Amino acid sequence: MDRIRIVGGKPLHGSIPISGAKNATLPLMIASLLTRDTLILDNVPRLADVLLLQRILSNHGVDITIKGKRPGDVEHSNQTMHISAADIVDTTAPYELVSKMRGSFWVLAPLVARMGRAKVSMPGGCAIGTRPVDLLIMAMERLGAKIEIDGGYVIANADNGLEGGEIEFPKVTVGGTHVALMGACLASGTSVIENAAREPEIVDVADCLIKMGARISGAGTSRIVVEGVAKLSGTRHSVLPDRIETGTYAMAVAMTGGDVLLEGARPELLQNALDVLSQAGAEISATNAGIRIARNDAGIRPVDVTTAPFPGFPTDLQAQLMALMTRARGTSRITETIFENRFMHVQELARLGAHIHLDGQNATIEGVDRLTGAPVMATDLRASVSLVIAALAAEGETMVNRVYHLDRGFERLEDKLSRCGATVERISG
Ligand code: EPZ
Repeated sequence: MDRIRIVGGKPLHGSIPISGAKNATLPLMIASLLTRDTLILDNVPRLADVLLLQRILSNHGVDITIKGKRPGDVEHSNQTMHISAADIVDTTAPYELVSKMRGSFWVLAPLVARMGRAKVSMPGGCAIGTRPVDLLIMAMERLGAKIEIDGGYVIANADNGLEGGEIEFPKVTVGGTHVALMGACLASGTSVIENAAREPEIVDVADCLIKMGARISGAGTSRIVVEGVAKLSGTRHSVLPDRIETGTYAMAVAMTGGDVLLEGARPELLQNALDVLSQAGAEISATNAGIRIARNDAGIRPVDVTTAPFPGFPTDLQAQLMALMTRARGTSRITETIFENRFMHVQELARLGAHIHLDGQNATIEGVDRLTGAPVMATDLRASVSLVIAALAAEGETMVNRVYHLDRGFERLEDKLSRCGATVERISG
């Protein structure tokens, strides 16, 4: 298993290109199942989860081609993907695939919308929580699907197609909103989605669906109205920049000190996190090339943050903020409200010398003057990158093990950091 070796203590200077958003790319790829035509996606990040979803979609008969480099392509420019679901040959998504990439469960909606049936494995839990799908199933039932659970599979049928319906989510769910949106696009009649997720990735998918011919209004608000249409066409769409990658590297710079341009980043996608970073002492400025983040030798100030659905502070940046706060001049508090077990980075940060106390969903972080490098283990995607952030400021060498977690959501992390002066290398093995 690959490991990442980091020797801390170097400030970051230079620029980091921000990749296309993982959490928009995955639902956009799944949305290709809604049409016989070809969907072309630009700015697709090179991530393990994207590769895995390619395999899952090809299991349904979807043809995917990645356009190679073109004359004039800048180094490592993001890739263009051509996806064609002309003939769906299999409406089953097997456990051995869905359990590896939970978001693939969302194929349930377009498969039923297009084919009238689907058999999709329940994804099962993961490191950060039980991750139930009861609200995704509720959404499909509200759209007229008949659902039964058998042998760990969700078996859905809509012989006469999906019908428009009223879907009210008791809690904000990103996956639930994606499923409701994709199902409603091809349903007969009008659907209303109440308490919808407002994440930018929902808006990005809705923008693409509208270009494909869907009739959607209100994406990005809590109330989305969809008028079903008979069919959708292909289109070309560029994936929006990844706000979580943006926030992650911004926190890395705040941690090490330095001055970095996050190329292509868009402030409005993560304004709450940028406000928190300003409170913590970082200097942030928006330019037409992206977001510039700097921290001079002024210290890191403590903050109190509670995670929340967009536009609140994102749970996917919680572990990264906690790493930053281990070096604050004072005591910080972080409350996690979205997932029930998203503090697994705490015991690993403690190995580097952090002082963190947990009380249920509340973490109290007493800043320390120095962290010391040590071998640590990654447990999930965002927890693993919080260890990298801490290691960048720790004295001596840190070895982060199980970096396959990192590769799921961060494209070429060691290249992007070492180009800004960090001592970071991947050790294969
Ligand atoms: C999406 O997961 C993201 N994944 C997650 O990012 C992100 O953390 C999460 O949204 C919250 O923003 C993708 O977009 C691929 P939810 P999702 O449904 O849709 C509960 C990453 O690191 N819930 O918004 O699965 C659930 O348990 C990943 O990139 C139900 O109870 O999250 C959680 O407590 C991690 N029943 C809360 O809702 C349901 O049927 C929010 O989950 C569905 C969800």
